[in-house]
Amino acid sequence: MKYLGKKTALLLALFCTLAHIRAQIVPFPYDIQKEATGDSAMVVTAHPLATKVGLDVLRKGGNAVDAAVAVQFALAVVYPQAGNIGGGGFLIYHGKDDQTAALDYREKAPAAATEKMYLDSAGNVLPNKSRLGVLACGVPGTVDGMWEAHKKYGRRPWGELVTPAIELAIRGYQITEQEAQNLNEERFTFIRHSSIQPAFVKLENWVAGDWLIQKELAVTLSRIAGYGRDDFYKGATASLIVNEMSKTGGLITREDLRRYKSVWRTPLEFDYKNLHIITMPPPSSGGILLRQLLAMTGDHPLKDSGFHSTAAVHLMVEAERRAYADRAMHMGDPDFWKVPVKKLTDMAYLKSRMADFQPNKATPSAKVTAGQIKESEETTHFSIIDPEGNAVSVTTTLNDSYGSRVVVSGAGFILNNEMDDFSAKPGAPNLYGAIGGKANAVAPDKRPLSSMTPVIATKGGKTWLVVGTPGGTTIPTSVFQVIVNVAEFGMSLPEAVQAKRFHHQWTPDKIFIEEGALTEAVIQQLIEMGHFVEPRDPIGRVEAILRLADGIWQGVADERGDDAAGGF
Ligand code: GLY
Repeated sequence: MKYLGKKTALLLALFCTLAHIRAQIVPFPYDIQKEATGDSAMVVTAHPLATKVGLDVLRKGGNAVDAAVAVQFALAVVYPQAGNIGGGGFLIYHGKDDQTAALDYREKAPAAATEKMYLDSAGNVLPNKSRLGVLACGVPGTVDGMWEAHKKYGRRPWGELVTPAIELAIRGYQITEQEAQNLNEERFTFIRHSSIQPAFVKLENWVAGDWLIQKELAVTLSRIAGYGRDDFYKGATASLIVNEMSKTGGLITREDLRRYKSVWRTPLEFDYKNLHIITMPPPSSGGILLRQLLAMTGDHPLKDSGFHSTAAVHLMVEAERRAYADRAMHMGDPDFWKVPVKKLTDMAYLKSRMADFQPNKATPSAKVTAGQIKESEETTHFSIIDPEGNAVSVTTTLNDSYGSRVVVSGAGFILNNEMDDFSAKPGAPNLYGAIGGKANAVAPDKRPLSSMTPVIATKGGKTWLVVGTPGGTTIPTSVFQVIVNVAEFGMSLPEAVQAKRFHHQWTPDKIFIEEGALTEAVIQQLIEMGHFVEPRDPIGRVEAILRLADGIWQGVADERGDDAAGGF
C-alpha cells in the first residue's frame, strides 16, 4: 500500500469490506444478450459485465470515450485472455461533428530487442521464444492509450472510470463454461511462465459459476485510478514489471516504460460506394487490407453471384491472396519503415493487382508476388455509441490468448506476447501463419505489424456501422465479410455477424472455412478450380452496431463467444 494514495487506499478498503459481505449474499448474475436495440446508446463487448460497465458510464452522462476507457479496464478483469492493461490496441473515433481520430497504443519492442533475438545460432526460428515467457513481451501501451484518449475526449473523472474494474476485481465474477475451459487449458503454461501462482490457477478444475477474484489486480487498478498513467510507467506498477523482468530474464526496463508514448495517427479513410470508411493506418495492416479487399471486389456483381456461392468465395479469396502478399512485403511500423500507403490503396494499382484474376481458376499463391512498388488469435473488440452520436471502435490485445502467460507478480495482470507479431526471420510464419520481411523485422522501440481493424463506417457524415473483431490475420477478412454481408448481400446485422466465415491469407495457400460455411458442392467446385480448402475452428468474434433506417441503434454480439450487446 506504500504507493497507494490515501483516498485510493481508503476506497480499496471500503470495496474489500463491501465485496466480502456482498459476495456472500448477492449473486452476480448476468445475461448474455446477443442482440439489443436502443434509440440513444449502444455498447457491444466480449463480456456482459464489460458491456454493463460501458452502459452505466453512458447513463451517468459519460461520452463514448469515457465508456471505452471504463470498458477497456473492465475487460482487463473479466476477459483476461485478451482484455488487458499489459497489452495494447487501436482506437478509432468518430464524433458527432464528423471529427475523426485514430489512437495507436500498440506495444513497442524493448530497447534491448534485436533483429535476431528469436533465432538460434544456426539461424533457425525458436518459435516459443517469441510466444511464451518474458522475452515475448512488448512494452505495454494500454494504460497510456486510455490516458491519452481520456485527456483528449473524456468528460467523467478518470478515477471514476477505473472504479468499476476495481470493483469487479475485488468482488470477483462468476466465470462461464468457455472461460473455465480456457483457464483449465492454460493452468500449466501459467505455472511455467509466472514467478508466482496467479489468480488464474487453481489446483482443481475451474467450472462454470466459479468466482474469479483478482486482489492484486484490484490494488494495481486502484493505483492507476489514483495516480493515472504515471503509476504504470514510472511508479509502483513500473517497479513490479521491472522486478518481474529481472527475476526471469526479460528485457523491459524502467527506461522502456518511462519512454512509452501512444501516438495519435491520421486515420485511414476511404470511400466504398455510398459508405465512408474510417479505420486504422499502419502499424496495423488491417485498414490497408480492408481498402484493398473492398476495392478489388467492388466492381464485381457479388450480390448476383450469391452469398457463399463458388463465384463469390473465389473472387473474395483471390483478392485476399493478393492483398496479403502486399502485407508480407510492404507493411510494418511507419516510424521505422516507409509503408507505401498511397500506392497500396490506389484504385489504379488495385485494379492492376486483379488484372490476372481468372473467374474459373485459382491463382496459386506461389505465382502471386507482392506488387512492384517504387517507393494470434486472441484479441478483443468493442464498439460504442453514446447518446450524442459519438462513436468509438476499439480493438485491443495481448496477442495470443492470455498473451505471454507471464503474470506480473504483485500486480496481478498478464503481459502480452506481441513480439511474435514481428517477423522473426524473413519468410518464417508467426502464430497466425503470417510471414513478413524486413519491413516487420524486430528493432528496438519498433511496433510489430498488426492486423487489427477497428472500423467506423459513415453515411452522409453520420455513423452508420461500428465494427471490429479479434482473430489475428483473420481480422481484416472477417471485417470485410461483415461489411460485404450488409452492404452487398443485404443481410440484417445479426445475419451478417453470425454468418459463417472463411479466410485466405496468401500463405499458406488454403481457404480456411468454419464448419458449415460452404456447401459440399461449393467446396468441390473450389477444389476443381485449384483451391485448397481446410476446415478450422471458429473465425473471429465480431462486435457490431448499425444505425437502422428509423435511426435506432442495433447492437449485435458474436455467438461464437460470451460476447454481449446492450443499449438504451
Ligand atoms: N496481435 C494480433 C494483431 O495485432 O493483429
